[in-house]
Amino acid sequence: MSEQKTLSIIKPDATARNITGSINARFEQAGLRIIAQKRISISKEQAEKFYEIHQDKAFYDSLCEYMSSGPIVVQVLLGNDAVAKNREIMGATNPANAAIGTIRRDFGESIEHNAVHGSDSEENAATEIAFFFSGIELVG
Ligand code: CMP
Repeated sequence: MSEQKTLSIIKPDATARNITGSINARFEQAGLRIIAQKRISISKEQAEKFYEIHQDKAFYDSLCEYMSSGPIVVQVLLGNDAVAKNREIMGATNPANAAIGTIRRDFGESIEHNAVHGSDSEENAATEIAFFFSGIELVG
């Protein structure tokens, strides 16, 4: 196993329900260390840039509108196989299909309002981390 970083976003549905601490506890219980974290608001244009790989999808406009509708918490998680580990504890994109005990199963409201985002590969993690953070903000 190798130590990796991955980008996590706690989404507007979760910040609105005041459950960021409950979600962070899941990361820490799984052995992932939060080495950077900030609560921010992004514009629709910034959301469009972040999610540009989905620009051809039917849900793209709605997703970007939603991600700019309220505060988000962007964070960098560090740990062994952090990309896969985070995807495992997040669960499937659609909370209805997510395994029992996963973040999305327990906290997600719908396929769009699914509480958290996590990078899907080490390569995308590097790109996504650089989108929100500079090197000096990562404190392991
Ligand atoms: P996320 O992991 O942030 O990556 C893209 C997001 O698009 C996804 O989580 C969902 O919140 C959102 N989304 C909305 N509709 C769909 C859909 N039909 N399939 C996949 N993702 C969707």
